[in-house]
Amino acid sequence: MKLVVTAGPTREPIDPVRFLSNRSSGKMGYAIASAAIEANHEVVLISGPVNLAPPAGAKLVNVITADEMHAAVHEAVHDCDVLVMCAAVSDYKPAHVAEQKIKKRDEKFSLELIPARDILKSLPPSRNFFAVGFAAETNDVEEHARAKLATKNCDMMVANDLSDPDIGMESDENAVTIFSRGGESETISRTSKKIIARELVKIICRNAKKVLTKKF
Ligand code: CTP
Repeated sequence: MKLVVTAGPTREPIDPVRFLSNRSSGKMGYAIASAAIEANHEVVLISGPVNLAPPAGAKLVNVITADEMHAAVHEAVHDCDVLVMCAAVSDYKPAHVAEQKIKKRDEKFSLELIPARDILKSLPPSRNFFAVGFAAETNDVEEHARAKLATKNCDMMVANDLSDPDIGMESDENAVTIFSRGGESETISRTSKKIIARELVKIICRNAKKVLTKKF
């Protein structure tokens, strides 16, 4: 199968020296890309700025902003079987990017933000690939993950519980629950991101094959 995996954060520029971003390290997405290659799948890895070596054998596409990731995903999904949106894409971006460095002043300062495009929501509802989203939640994990599964038109939603600071973002470990369209769910308890990635690749590809019956 051909998998497109997104990983890491995006950065939204404020001025030439500043940006808005988040704590995503890219470890989970890179582990998924590695596990998919290990399982003999073809992988396009669309990565935001991270400090990780890309897995050998993946086609790497580097992006910085949510708009760049949006364009890269739309180009890559044309001939893919599975899209795994593991990236922590910015929800907002500055309404204006200052051309010169914003100078410090001794007064309140506010930044006007506008919504960034939602990549998953922008995908065509009728499509020839299986779409997996990742829900990063600090509370009411199941409720929020199921809502995202429906509103973002995904085939599967992998929920990360971020309420435990020892796992998830930046950590080498994670614990996830996978929610499917039919209402089923499956939990992978706390373990290394490498092991979670191997399990996820198996589960995702097994379910993708069921949905993409004309292809496989
Ligand atoms: N996502 C996306 N485009 C965005 C933001 C998020 O495609 N602009 C994708 C992520 O890659 C992930 C899924 O949507 O697969 C859920 O992301 P998450 O950050 O959990 O949810 P949000 O939609 O950003 O909602 P909220 O921040 O309110 O939880």
